[in-house]
Amino acid sequence: MIELSLHILDLIENSINAGADEIKVLLDVNEENDLLTLTIEDNGKGFSVEEEQLFDPFYTTKTSKVVGMGLSLAKSSAERAGGEVVIGRSKDLGGAKVVLTFVLSNIDRIPIGDLGNSIAGMFVTNPNINIKIYIILNNQTQLSIHTKEYREKFSDKSDIEIYPLLAEEINNVIKALKV
Ligand SMILES: Nc1ncnc2c1ncn2[C@@H]1O[C@H](COP(=O)(O)OP(=O)(O)O)[C@@H](O)[C@H]1O
Ligand SMILES: [Mg+2]
Repeated sequence: MIELSLHILDLIENSINAGADEIKVLLDVNEENDLLTLTIEDNGKGFSVEEEQLFDPFYTTKTSKVVGMGLSLAKSSAERAGGEVVIGRSKDLGGAKVVLTFVLSNIDRIPIGDLGNSIAGMFVTNPNINIKIYIILNNQTQLSIHTKEYREKFSDKSDIEIYPLLAEEINNVIKALKV
């Protein structure tokens, strides 16, 4: 995958498929540790099968013919940049937790990409989902948005009108990270 935002879309889609309506996306950039950590947690049904199976590119619990690639692609992106993927249960939300790490300075680390439009796209297409997005740089919170609250804040606007505001606010923070 060429952008981290595309992995994030895949992982959010996994959460939605698992029945989640609360999804936490935490992007943590730590220059001192030379690490970019992405954590996705949800309140869905959680992982039910063996970890080895989940990272098999042909494993899926979907009944459609689309094979499962999301987790295995995320794993190869992370590993190519000196990182890893760890899965488990979210203490906070009760469902699944997926943690991807990347070595910041690794030349094979993929860029974050257009996270704003990815999240805003999920916001308009899945209006019942609350996405909580946090962006942290060197232990300082740069952004904290709950899409449900964001919608309430702009209660005079439709989701389609909120879309570019949300996308821009996220992307401005991403740009300022300069990574
Ligand atoms: N957030 C999640 N909650 C519960 N199960 C999950 C989650 N993400 C992935 N899984 C399980 O891992 C499998 C593989 O995921 P993935 O590699 O993205 O393929 P796909 O989504 O196409 O099935 C899914 O079919 C599902 O069983
Ligand atoms: Mg998937």
